[in-house]
Amino acid sequence: MKIHIPPLKCQGIKSKLVPWIKNCVEWDGKGLWIEPFLGSGVVGFNMQPKAALFCDNNPHIINFYNEIKTGAITAELVRNFLETEGHQLTKQGQDYYYQVRERFNRDKAPLDFLFLNRACFNGVIRFNRRGEFNVPFGHKPERFAKAYITKIVNQVAYVAKLTKVSDWTFLCQDYRRTLANVSQSDFVYCDPPYLGRHVDYFNSWEEKEEEQLCALLKKCPSKFILSTWQNTSHRENAYLHSWWSTFQILTKEHFYHVGAKEINRSSVQEALVLNFQGNVPETTLEKPKQFVLLESSENYNF
Ligand SMILES: C[S@@+](CC[C@H](N)C(=O)[O-])C[C@H]1O[C@@H](n2cnc3c(N)ncnc32)[C@H](O)[C@@H]1O
Repeated sequence: MKIHIPPLKCQGIKSKLVPWIKNCVEWDGKGLWIEPFLGSGVVGFNMQPKAALFCDNNPHIINFYNEIKTGAITAELVRNFLETEGHQLTKQGQDYYYQVRERFNRDKAPLDFLFLNRACFNGVIRFNRRGEFNVPFGHKPERFAKAYITKIVNQVAYVAKLTKVSDWTFLCQDYRRTLANVSQSDFVYCDPPYLGRHVDYFNSWEEKEEEQLCALLKKCPSKFILSTWQNTSHRENAYLHSWWSTFQILTKEHFYHVGAKEINRSSVQEALVLNFQGNVPETTLEKPKQFVLLESSENYNF
């Protein structure tokens, strides 16, 4: 299965899990594909639904994709921008990265967001409490080599093409709002920040959020799939068995490449929670012998 990689990257990006998720989806495509936690968009963009509601509470992700949709950002514009900015990065190195970071934190331009996302350390999206992007430089002044720019340009072109032939809406809003308007014919894919693992200003995901999400999904009139995790080599996700135990749970091992700490780059047992009987369980869940409760204050980035 060919997976189209989106132009933005984020922690917890599901590129490698798309085939698994896609295989589990049982939907006739007649309603809306709804994603309350869009992130990079890799899942929805590969599903290629005719109509979709793509939401995230990070305004920069939504602005970026809205600008592609309206044509304010085109593949050619991205090429010119990255060639010019990439040239400056090669000449001036990290000082230039920090100049662009300052410019973005002042003006919030979507193309600067793309530049930072692709030049920062490990391709993560992280903001401080003041709403400022605060990921350090990825130490690659030659980052925007010709082939890399072409790759990004093609990724933008892919999303642009789909937004033209589909009925896709991108909204910056909280997941509670998104889940308030689901119909039976829709399909919901939820990929919230992983409790205790993905944390930043837009991602302050704590126990109460997971609990509310669970309560809302229990009432969800359509089919849904939720992505979460079962365990790493260090710990178990105890919430999987307390809150999500009434649903079908499938698991699969996955290796994340995005993350600041070596410890977070080890493999993770990923889980999918379904409110229907999925037909492709690669591994069905076995209850772990011992639970280690997560401390949500710990900041782990994949
Ligand atoms: C794990 S990421 C989604 C990754 C995505 N599925 C992918 O493959 O790239 C979680 C996303 O949820 C968003 N988010 C966090 N809290 C939210 C909230 N309360 N409402 C809506 N979106 C939220 C974050 O900004 C982030 O983009």
